[in-house]
Formats: sequence, structure tokens, C-alpha cells
Amino acid sequence: MTDLLVRDLAYVNGQWSAAASGATFEVRSPSSGELVGIVPDLSVDDTRVAIAAAAAAWPAWRNRTAKERAVVLQAWHALILQHREALATLMSRESGKVIAESRGEVLYGASFVEWFAEEGKRAYGEVVPPPARDRRIVVIRQGIGVVAAITPWNFPLAMITRKVAPALAAGCPVVIKPPAETPLTALALAVLAEQAGLPAGVLNVVPTTQSHDIGYELSTNPLVRKLSFTGSTAVGKQLMAQCASTLKKLSLELGGNAPFIVFDDADIDAAVHGAVQAKYRHNGQTCVCVNRLLVQDSVYDEFVSRFSTAVAALRSGDPLDPTVQVGPLVNAKGLEKVQRFVRDAVANGARVTQGGECRGGLFFAPTVLADATPAMRLAREEVFGPVAPVFRFRDEAEAIRLANDTDYGLAAYFYSRDIGRCWRVAEALECGMVGINEGLISTEVAPFGGVKASGMGREGSRHGLDAYLELKYLCFGGIDP
Ligand code: SIN
Repeated sequence: MTDLLVRDLAYVNGQWSAAASGATFEVRSPSSGELVGIVPDLSVDDTRVAIAAAAAAWPAWRNRTAKERAVVLQAWHALILQHREALATLMSRESGKVIAESRGEVLYGASFVEWFAEEGKRAYGEVVPPPARDRRIVVIRQGIGVVAAITPWNFPLAMITRKVAPALAAGCPVVIKPPAETPLTALALAVLAEQAGLPAGVLNVVPTTQSHDIGYELSTNPLVRKLSFTGSTAVGKQLMAQCASTLKKLSLELGGNAPFIVFDDADIDAAVHGAVQAKYRHNGQTCVCVNRLLVQDSVYDEFVSRFSTAVAALRSGDPLDPTVQVGPLVNAKGLEKVQRFVRDAVANGARVTQGGECRGGLFFAPTVLADATPAMRLAREEVFGPVAPVFRFRDEAEAIRLANDTDYGLAAYFYSRDIGRCWRVAEALECGMVGINEGLISTEVAPFGGVKASGMGREGSRHGLDAYLELKYLCFGGIDP
């Protein structure tokens, strides 16, 4: 581990600093309980200092050309790649993500920095045909101002870069509130951003255990113009209500309840492979993880048997062991929820075909539950853990009805070899993203986000820059016709 990247101070206004109160908190490994680091526990007052620093840094940063900002982002991108192994190790230690996935997340996270370094240079405006001969109409796109980014523990690096890179590219300074579980990766990113030449105040990292109070400050402080949040729907709704007082622009990437449909014409091997990827990525702790498998009657038994065999082969254990595929749950609350949902499903008639038990500490066996029904909590609520309930359906119409029978609408997946069905089903699913014969769909080039209770706005892709830009219409009058 490169100690250079492990910081025990917050990063505010270009300074590495303690909390004004001197308070600190510990970061412990979910896998072993070992101490990974100690960081300052910033207060609301400390957060106000960070917001004020960002506001002060805004004019100089926005006045740089897009290309000048891109040069800094490109340097940051190169440094993230250069420190890939150290970042991945730190991330695995503080989040419990298995090292192979952490290495993948460093690449995924870096890809947003590279992408938006380029996209920032293409924040084109418009010239609009005027309604009068003596006028000319031009539309320009300008950075919105200070951005607050509240990020989750399940992607300690990529959910920061997916928000911060487009903000910086658009000329906006940022205050990041990382989760209390994984502040060290956020601080390590700040070390590299500083080395890349980002000016003081443009990026600020506020580690804290006082999530509620700091979230309130970030969503009500008038200097903050935009809030971007990834996390639960319940917290997203609360932040949205708080943002109303200052009418902040919002991006919300919230919970999901992803269906994964296997039609009888599917390539079953491919479907099993895709389902394992889409369900057990980060031990089921991503918002696009499959929550419900829907399998057509005629292939149900075959699929359950082959899927259960594949799940049985998953190796769980120490996240730093490169052969391990499934790590621990992030905390006791997460484990307790998984256990509660499995008990509820079994009480309502589910058959455990694989796993189903706790394996000590925060480890829960990768689990498959056959004979799942809509009466189970798993049908409606996101389990956020390694449990795959398998539901049965008769025909395409029933599959679509079941898939859409949820408040959420983030990702959905289905497997079929019928091209007509592929189009019909993809168009009928009520969600922001669809994997068709594909279980891993996240990429910097495509818009990530959901509908219904899964949130609003899109991250990544060319649309991800818009979230940090405002349109301004310029009307030039008095032009001699
Ligand atoms: C998330 O779980 O919040 C993000 C998942 C992804 O980007 O693939």
C-alpha cells in the first residue's frame, strides 16, 4: 500500500486539515474488523468553510478554458491509473469489495475522468433562427456553480468521479461528502487531484459521521447550486425536500429492484452467466444488481438447477485474496436485512436451493431461493445482498407485468434470442437502463440513471455533463436588417 495515498486529514480549500473540534472516527474493514485508518469527523461549521472555499474558487476555475480544465483532468486520470493497485487495495480494505472488482472499479472510475475531460470541450451552444430581422439569438451553456456530491460506500471511487469529473469539466467547484464507511478512497482521490494541479478550493472532501446534519447543510446552503446524490430512495426524497428551500438543481441516483427475465428461447448458459454477474457483483450491493429473477415455466427447473450450481462455485472470503469472488456485507445492518428477507421468503414458501446461511462475521452465503412469489418482501424491496429469488411466469405479457410491478425503475435485464421480442420487451420495461442478453451494462459512454422511485437525471455519457450546465439565451437586438 502506498502510504502517500492514505490520509488522516480532511481536504478543504487546498489544505489538509483536522476538524475544528479535533473529533475523529475510525474506518474498519468489514471483512476482518482491522483498523484501516482514522479520519477527522467534520461538523456543519467545517462544511460551511468548505462550501465557502468552493464558492471563492469558482470564478477563477470557470474562467479557465475548457481545454485548460481538461489538462488537469487528464493529469488526474493518469495519476489514478498509475496508482491503480494502491487505490484498489485501499478500497477493498475499507469497503470489503473483492480486489478483482476494486481493480475494475479504479478503471471504471478513471474512465469518467477521461471521458469528461473530453466532453467538457464539447459543451456547445446553439445559434437559433430569430423571429425578427433585427435580432440574433444565441444559446450558451455555462457551469452551474458550487456542486455538493453525496456519495455511497458501494463504489467508493467511481461514484465520486462520475459526479466530480463532469462538474469540474463544466467549470464547477465541488464539495464531496463521502460515506463514513469509505472516506479514505475519497481522500486518496483528493491527494491525486492536488498532484494533478487542481487549484485550492475547487475540490473539497468532508469526511463525517454526521451524515444527516451535513446532508442538511449541503442541501440548504444557498451557495450550493446543485446537489448530486447516490444512495437510498428514502434519503433521496428527504434531500429533495430540503433542496426545495433554495430550489437547487438535483441529480438523484436511488434504489432499484431490477428484474432479470429468462425467456424460454434464451441461451440458458449465457443467461446463467449473466445472472451470476448481475446478481453477485459486489456481493449484491449495487443498485443495478438483480433483485428478482423471472424465469419462464418451461425452462424454470433447468435454469434454477444450473444457476444454483454456478452460485455454489462462487468463492467467498478475504476480499484481498485475488481468487475470492464474493466478500462480506458492508455492515451488521446490511447482514441483518439479508437474514430478515431470507427468513420472510422461507416462511412464505421459498425453497433454498443454494446457500441461505450466515458464514460468520459479515459473510452471508451466496443464496438462491426457488418458488419465490409476489407475497415475499424480496419482490418489492431491494435486498442489497447476495440473495437471488427466482419467480415463475407463463408468457411475455406476464413477464412484463411482473417486471414493471415495482415502485422502482433503474435497471432491468432479459435474455431472449427472438429479435422481435427483444425490441418489444426493451420498449415495454419501465426503467432507465436495459441489459439485453447482457448482465453488466455500466460504462462511461452510456447514460446511467433511473425513472420512478429510482431517481432523476443521468450520469456518464454526453448527457452527464448537462447535469452541471445551465442554458443561457442571448438576444442581440438592434441589428440593422
Ligand atoms: C451503483 O450501484 O450506485 C452504481 C452501479 C454502477 O455504476 O454500475
